Formats: sequence, C-alpha cells, structure tokens
Amino acid sequence: MSARVSRRRLLGLGAAALGAGAVAAAGRPLADLLLQPGQPGRLLPSQTPLPGPYQVPLPIPPVLRPVRTDAVTDHYELTQRVVQLHILPDLPTSVWSYGGSFPGPTIVSRTGRRTVVRYRNELPQPVVVHLHGGHTPADSDGYPIDLILPAAGSPPSDDPMPGMPGMAQPHGDVARGERAYMYPMNQRAATLWYHDHRMGFTGPGVWRGLAGFHLVHDDEEDALPLPRGERDIPLMIVDRSFAADGSFRYPSLHAPGVTEPYRDGVLGDVILVNGAPWPTLNTKRARYRLRLLNASNARRYRLALDPPPAGGSGLVQIGSDGGLLTRPVYHDELEIAPAERFDVVVDFARYRPGTRVRLVNRLGSGTTTEVMRFDVSPATRTAPDDSGVPDRLSTVDRPDPHQATTTRTFVFHRDRQTGWTINGSLYRPGRVLARPRLGAVEVWRFITDFHHPIHLHLNHFGVVSRNSSSPGRYDSGWKDTVDLRPAEAVEVVTRFTDYPGTFLLHCHNLEHEDMAMMADFVTG
Ligand code: C2O
Ligand code: CU
Ligand code: CU
Repeated sequence: MSARVSRRRLLGLGAAALGAGAVAAAGRPLADLLLQPGQPGRLLPSQTPLPGPYQVPLPIPPVLRPVRTDAVTDHYELTQRVVQLHILPDLPTSVWSYGGSFPGPTIVSRTGRRTVVRYRNELPQPVVVHLHGGHTPADSDGYPIDLILPAAGSPPSDDPMPGMPGMAQPHGDVARGERAYMYPMNQRAATLWYHDHRMGFTGPGVWRGLAGFHLVHDDEEDALPLPRGERDIPLMIVDRSFAADGSFRYPSLHAPGVTEPYRDGVLGDVILVNGAPWPTLNTKRARYRLRLLNASNARRYRLALDPPPAGGSGLVQIGSDGGLLTRPVYHDELEIAPAERFDVVVDFARYRPGTRVRLVNRLGSGTTTEVMRFDVSPATRTAPDDSGVPDRLSTVDRPDPHQATTTRTFVFHRDRQTGWTINGSLYRPGRVLARPRLGAVEVWRFITDFHHPIHLHLNHFGVVSRNSSSPGRYDSGWKDTVDLRPAEAVEVVTRFTDYPGTFLLHCHNLEHEDMAMMADFVTG
C-alpha cells in the first residue's frame, strides 16, 4: 500500500470516528490551513525595528544552586516575577521570569535523588509549573487547574481568570503565594524542561518567558566519553515578536486562547536562542554536545549546519526526549516540533579554522531562516579532545507492542463549531478519556488533521509505526512528544509503571492546547 493510499485510509478512519466533515477543518481544505509550508500558524510581525543577526554572544542559563540538601533530597527555591531584560539593543523587554532570567535557571538533578522545587508566585497572574518529561506523581505534575495564585502584595490582575469556552469555573488544588513540587527523579538521564501550564493561558505564559531547562544525570551517561562541562550546552530555541514598547507581542484574548487569525498557532519573526536574538558562540575545534529544545509555541524547525562539514552528517544524534539512544543516528537535518528535544554532538574539528557555521532553519522564511552561528576557532591545531561518540550508547528497553493489553485511538481534530478537539471533545478537567491500569503495556494511536506535536505526561513512549509503516527518522529512542503532520497516524507504546492519578495528553502547540486540545487520563 503506498503512503498516499494509507494516508487516505487513515483520514477516512478519522472522518468515520467524527462524522462527516472531519477532513476539512472549518470548511476549508487542509492545504489552505498551511499558510507557510510545514508551519502551523500565522506570523505575528514585530512592531519595533529588529536587531541584525550574529551581534550578541550566546548566553548560557545559570545553574540553580540548591538552598539545602540532605541524604536523599535536593531543595530548590524559585520566585516567578516580572523583570526587565535586555533582549533588543535599544529597548528593555518586560519578561515573566523564573528567578529573574529567561530562560529560567537550569536545574540539575541526579537519577534517584529527590528534587523539591518551591515556587513563589510574584507575577500578576496565577501560574502552574510542569516538569516536561518528568516521571512525576500527579500532585506535583502541574495539573492545569492546580494554580499557584499570586502572593499577597503582588500587583492585582485585571484578568478575570475565566475557564475554557463553554464550561463552569473548575476548582483544582489551589495554593496561594507558593507551592512545592516534588520530583522523585526515578528516571534516566535526559534533557527535561519546566514551563508554565496554567489552563487556557500556557501560550502567553511561556511566550512571556516562563520556561527553563531541567537536566537529569546518571552513572550510565557519566561513564560515556561524551563532551561535558563547557562543551555540553543546552540550546532553547524560540520564536518571538516584539511590540513597539519592546515587550513581547502576543494576540491574547481576555479569555483563554488567541484572536481568530492566530488560532492555528502564533509564529514570531525573531529567533531567540537561550533568550538572545540570533546569537553566536565561539567554539574550539572539538566536539560539542548540543541539547536542542524547541520551546516555541507553534513553530517547527528544520535545522541544519551551513556549511555542512565535508562528508556531511554533521548532526550526530545521541539522545531524544527521554535520554540516550541505543546508538547514534547521523543527520544532515533535524526536524524539531514544539517541546521536542534532540541531543546532538557536533565535531567542529571537522571544519577549517575560522569557519563560521550557521545553524539554519529550512522551514523558515525571511528572518526566521537563521537561528545562531558557531564561530570556529582560528587556531590551526585542533583542541585537545578526549571525547567521543561510542557506537553503543545505552539500552532502550521499550515494551513489545505485542504485549499491549489495550489499544486506544485519539483523533486530534479541529471541529468547525467547537474548536481544537481530541476524540470530538474539548478539554474539561475531570472528563477522562482513558483509564490505563498500572502495570499495563498499552498502544496509543494518534490521528491528526493538522500539525499537532502530541505530548504525553507521566511516561515516555516508543514510536511503533508512522502511517502504517516504520517510525520516521526523527522518532528514535524514548519520546514524550511526537510530531504529527496533517493527516498522519502514529502508534506509540508505553508501560504504565507507577503513580496513580490524573495526568494529561495534549497537543503541545500551545495555542491549540489553550483552546482545549487536551485530555485527562487516569492511572490506577
Ligand atoms: Cu510541556 Cu503538558 O507540557
Ligand atoms: Cu509534559
Ligand atoms: Cu495541535
């Protein structure tokens, strides 16, 4: 069966599940939704002059120090507050920050050592914190109505804090001022990130700055000769737009979601890496580990090195969302959807001294075709480098899909009446779409009508198939977010091991998420 036929068949399946009209969203053919090829959403232009690329050095987010550690736990504290940061050359930008920086400080955990982070909310809005990729008990997972209300004395909000469309105000586990989240960290080394997850307002929260890295290390990874220290660099890639006053521009409603033209997704015209516009990094002629995170609301990227090193395959993937792969995968280009992580090693010794290597975005246009630049040292001798990429990295002991006791299907669809739905429903806290049993292996099947990066809380998963054939080139390893393009079907397998409670499955296009493309599942 050709890919085209199978795609059509899958679309038919989606349509059957939903009734007539599923293939054409809002009465328009699918192709019309794609305003930029490969890109879900619409460009929101900046209203201020933009800086040129490659004028500022790449910032590295500070590593957060624990306030206290004991035999089993590291305790951290972070205050969320508004700060003025210099992102543009001439105008300060008012940022919603974790601890005063954007990205927030990097939290570093060790597998098996509990991490407790106490967040204080001095922002004018309620917040929720989620550790993305964390294998976390439900009461610390950042369920979207488990709010931290602003601390007393914080400036009052003009926002009425409404619910999602068509629903009564739900009531979660609400704290005032601060809340501690407990992460057991019984999980392997991986690049995680934390971000806001407030119901209906995650898009504006993350856009205004609420995101940071959380790295997990373990003995297995430490035993490998991968680049480390200052040659192990997290790169948070986002697009943003700026208003005339230098603030982040975002098409908010005074309700969850965005104004009609932007409901497919908000795209910015400035690319920030670790909070700086199109920055540069001076590199030695040596190997670097780059932990790539797409923390954009909606934008997808196809990243490539320009020029590529002689012989190609400059991006050597060693890890994905859930940590190390079994063996490295060699790429010339990487397609990365919102919330996905690709851990790659780039060997700048493969370039001539003094080469300027741009990281470009082949899905961009205009200003968004450039991301950052690596300026390779002019020294003719390569730097001492005892790092390497072994051919065996780790074991990925993914459950066998044939052991699955249950297969569930989730259709991600834009309904012309209601909006962004999963199996025909808008999100409502407490409406449960799946009840996996702890101990069970399950296959979950996702079917889409549009670009949807689909994210599962609690568990990592393995991609079993894409469009009834093998997984794609970017599907390797343990994933927690899988990129589906329009009219695709992906099957993933996961094992529910521990933590009973309510968790989320959702689209990580933050505009879709805020407009209710989210579902509860309950483990038990
Ligand atoms: Cu990164 Cu439920 O989110
Ligand atoms: Cu998550
Ligand atoms: Cu979506």
